[in-house]
Amino acid sequence: MDPSHPATVPATPGLSDLFPVGTGIAWCVAPVPGGCLLPAEQQAISWMAPARQQAFAQGRACARFALAQIGYGNVAVPVAEQRAPLWPPGVTGSIAHCAGRAIAVAARVEVASGVGVDLEQAGSLERGVLELVCTPAERDWLAQTGNAQLARTIFAIKESVYKCLWPRVRRYIDFQEVEIDLRPAGRRYVARATGPGLDASVVAAINGGWLEAGGLIYASAYLPSAPAL
Ligand SMILES: CC(C)(COP(=O)(O)OP(=O)(O)OC[C@H]1O[C@@H](n2cnc3c(N)ncnc32)[C@H](O)[C@@H]1OP(=O)(O)O)[C@@H](O)C(=O)NCCC(=O)NCCS
Repeated sequence: MDPSHPATVPATPGLSDLFPVGTGIAWCVAPVPGGCLLPAEQQAISWMAPARQQAFAQGRACARFALAQIGYGNVAVPVAEQRAPLWPPGVTGSIAHCAGRAIAVAARVEVASGVGVDLEQAGSLERGVLELVCTPAERDWLAQTGNAQLARTIFAIKESVYKCLWPRVRRYIDFQEVEIDLRPAGRRYVARATGPGLDASVVAAINGGWLEAGGLIYASAYLPSAPAL
């Protein structure tokens, strides 16, 4: 990899523990030149405001470097339906950006059959948002812990779960369709489908975790390459 590229900054310690061994992870904290986009990506940004173009370019720069780590050189990641990134055949990956930063992960399907990443600013959720995002059981659990900030962690995890499941389900998944059982001691969680709309065994096979550093929450979700379904 080019050591002068912004997406080669050292990743936050502990980040690689959130993904299976063999996952490419790239992390970007600085603006990247718009020219780093490949033609198949460039056409997606014409309608975007400048700040959004920059976030998109950061995400694609990270995607490129995550792919390079797993042996894919200079491959475009175009925009597919519903804004989802289109990864090369045989690869699963995910992108997130927040507060001028971006992260991308990519894994060969032999390593993971789905992967999701999310990045959020730490903090509690407003009451109305909390009710949209968290199930009644999650809200009860949050009230018992007395740590309202964990609601934002649940939010970040659910967004990473959504990105992880997207290639399988290809539909919007409501926040109430998945329940997250947080295990704060190990920064891991167990995911559960709350109704018949999602395959319960697939949701239960999701693995992942989170970490908090520099005021940001990093959340991961991935499916083992051959889940026992
Ligand atoms: C799609 C969504 C998760 C993106 O989150 P966000 O906070 O807006 O933005 P993030 O920075 O975290 O992620 C943006 C990236 O997600 C990726 N993304 C967008 N839609 C996606 C989809 N349907 N599937 C997978 N990845 C997607 C894109 O790469 C995007 O970056 P890009 O547009 O620059 O390529 C969010 O907008 C959303 O629709 N959430 C509702 C559904 C949900 O999370 N349900 C929880 C069920 S458990």
